[in-house]
Amino acid sequence: MDASIAQRQRVSSGAATTSTPDIRVVQLGPGIGAEVKGVDIAAGVDEKAFARVRHALDAHSVVILRDQDITPAQQTAFAQRLGDLRVSFYNRYAVPNQPELSVVSNIKQDGVAIGIEDAGMLWHTDGSYLKTPDMYTVLYGIEIPHRDGKPLGNTLFTSAWGAYESLSDSMKARLAGLRAVHSFVHHLDKKASLGKLKRAPLTEKQKAELPDVDHPIVRTHPLTGRLGLFVTEGHTKEIVGMPGEEGDALLNELWTHLKNPAFIYTHTWRKGDLIVWDNCAVHHLAVFDYGDIPRRLHRAGLLGPVPV
Ligand code: OGA
Ligand code: MN
Repeated sequence: MDASIAQRQRVSSGAATTSTPDIRVVQLGPGIGAEVKGVDIAAGVDEKAFARVRHALDAHSVVILRDQDITPAQQTAFAQRLGDLRVSFYNRYAVPNQPELSVVSNIKQDGVAIGIEDAGMLWHTDGSYLKTPDMYTVLYGIEIPHRDGKPLGNTLFTSAWGAYESLSDSMKARLAGLRAVHSFVHHLDKKASLGKLKRAPLTEKQKAELPDVDHPIVRTHPLTGRLGLFVTEGHTKEIVGMPGEEGDALLNELWTHLKNPAFIYTHTWRKGDLIVWDNCAVHHLAVFDYGDIPRRLHRAGLLGPVPV
């Protein structure tokens, strides 16, 4: 770890107590999840305030800014302060005039979906099927479904490092050096077989553009150096060199472990929530319990490094 990262970590660990006037960081979940209070993106976020958000992200992996009222351009500008944005290959659902943002929604206009309808319905990290998966995701809640006054469509986050650190020494030894295949084609096939696919199948050209990739099963966080478990039910197809039952059993054991409530922060959305999460530190899942009740969010993804 280089000196600047160590410096940032020192700052991060003090984030909940150091004072930037009017900004407070409130921890929400078990090791992951924090609300940063006192930031109004539309009004402008100065360097000092932005540094508090960043530090909270390093320390808590999932950061929530509530009561935001922002335009697509403002969301894009804010997200850009975290790094380089990915302009999605799957840009069919870009926000009009804002190719950096994708619409996540179940809403149809004239019978046509306005956004990605099945985003996140299996545990995953964003872009793990790419050589360079997304580092951060910035998701903004515009329409949140309710039934009988109760908000629906929660997003769950689980801690990759919480899950890794609690493994037995023998399991850690077993996983050391192993790699796993992540596959978008497999992901869509799996969604289809579970009846969760709500998009057109990939064309052969799209498939060719999205070849399977492999990544380490134990990933080192590029900023904190912390080790995290990096296999997901959504995208991990098999363990390299361990196809068949043995590999499947091991993957199932790790997926089950990652779903232990001890590692999970459940986010109940409110309109105006902006969530930033660290895909190197957490996995996430969208709960689809709202049927046709409208839900609409805008998402930005930040480019990340090759996982090591
Ligand atoms: C995503 C995603 C979760 C949700 O957009 O990447 O996983 O709750 N969304 O919509
Ligand atoms: Mn996602």
